[in-house]
Amino acid sequence: MKKILSYIESHHDRYLLEVKELLAIPSVSSQSERKPEMRRTAEWLKNHMKNIGLQNVQILETEGHPVVYADWLSAVGKPTILIYGHYDVQPEDPVDLWTTPPFEATIRGENLYARGASDDKGQIFIHLKAIEAFLKNGGTLPVNIKFIFEGEEEIGSDNLPKFVSEHKDLLKADVIVISDSGMFAKGVPSVTYALRGLAYMEVEVTGPNSDLHSGSFGGSVHNPIQVLTKMIASLHDKNGRITVKGMYDDVRTLTKAERAAFKKLPWNDKTYAKSLGLKQLYGEKGFTTLERLWARPTLECNGIWGGYTGEGAKTVLPSKAFAKISMRLVPDQSSAKIAKLFEKHMKAIAPKTISVKVRYLNGGEPAITPVDSPGVKAAVAALEKGFGKKPLYQREGGSIPIVVDFKRLLGIDSVLLGFGLPDENAHAPNEFINLDNFFGGIKTAAHYYNELPQFWKSGKKKNA
Ligand code: BES
Ligand code: MN
Ligand code: MN
Repeated sequence: MKKILSYIESHHDRYLLEVKELLAIPSVSSQSERKPEMRRTAEWLKNHMKNIGLQNVQILETEGHPVVYADWLSAVGKPTILIYGHYDVQPEDPVDLWTTPPFEATIRGENLYARGASDDKGQIFIHLKAIEAFLKNGGTLPVNIKFIFEGEEEIGSDNLPKFVSEHKDLLKADVIVISDSGMFAKGVPSVTYALRGLAYMEVEVTGPNSDLHSGSFGGSVHNPIQVLTKMIASLHDKNGRITVKGMYDDVRTLTKAERAAFKKLPWNDKTYAKSLGLKQLYGEKGFTTLERLWARPTLECNGIWGGYTGEGAKTVLPSKAFAKISMRLVPDQSSAKIAKLFEKHMKAIAPKTISVKVRYLNGGEPAITPVDSPGVKAAVAALEKGFGKKPLYQREGGSIPIVVDFKRLLGIDSVLLGFGLPDENAHAPNEFINLDNFFGGIKTAAHYYNELPQFWKSGKKKNA
């Protein structure tokens, strides 16, 4: 391991130049004009993976953006790790708010700024560099490795479950490792064992069959914007609970032990509120902030539009109003069921003066992964070696839809080994990755590959 770690140390500068190249390609999966850039990113990864010594490198087609696959399978008798990540990123807008251009990765202080730096191109690169360190120093790995990088995570991974079910043999592995989440805080490495799910909806309220003069018609017609905003406002009660009928039916109750474990984490509401520029936090009554973030469902309006928003005044009574509303889900809620309940609820509360359409855009299931598996034990050992500190266990509020599909289709649990930080502006202007965590992540990944076989053996013995 010494040689591996000093190789990593001595190649910092080149690693940075390379990751900047990867971050320079605007791989925004949601924008069709960026389709060629998606392909370019897949090609870049393919070439890079070939160059570091991975084998069987290929771009595999889906109905959407392609998947990049590679492996190295010469560690006979050793466990196989399937490493998943996504090379697509969120749109860069509002681009004016970036200090330096989103696709010109720039180091400022101890951070590297670019769209995708933390979510997730920077984190997939961490694994590639750890692999390189082994393959360029003796040419072997202590484990078998398979990579699957997809290009549609940020748009819901719609085509990936089908791909996985059609490539079960190719993807066969003992453990899945995903670096697409975060650490609890700077200097506090963590293993994540749960993610929330998602049900993303669009609502369209239609009033009159055309925009109307608000003087000639105001007073006789119910304004769709006013109807929609009132409906949205009614989706939470005075205790911050969601009013959608049936919302909490399948919510798994937090155990006493888990609540106690959350309380032990180094968390401070005041500091958190201050970091967000808030005087006070908000949320469901009866739960702590971490409980609300990690283990309770939430409902957010993500966008709302209608009527006139241009310069100056326009006296219009709009025909339509729209909103995007998403719900974060927790075990044992199902996105399809919640989407149905939401539609039913919106129709039930809609007044007769308008009509309402509800569409389900995308979603994913909540995930909870075992913490006592050999894969997680190896992660704990690797994080301690990589960051010099014992990691803590945490959940996350975000979603990675494929985690539950991997379990369902391949029968494999995922280990969530994240190197991001909660304040790295993922999905926002000025996204960055902290460079200590980037390089600490590379070392941790290297330790992980090295540690896993031992834990695998002892885990097997115990279970046998
Ligand atoms: N990497 C995130 C998920 C994440 C966020 C994990 C925060 C842990 C902490 C992922 O790229 C993401 O943004 N997922 C989407 C899923 C959606 C598009 C289906 C999300 O959570 O909004
Ligand atoms: Mn991500
Ligand atoms: Mn994301």
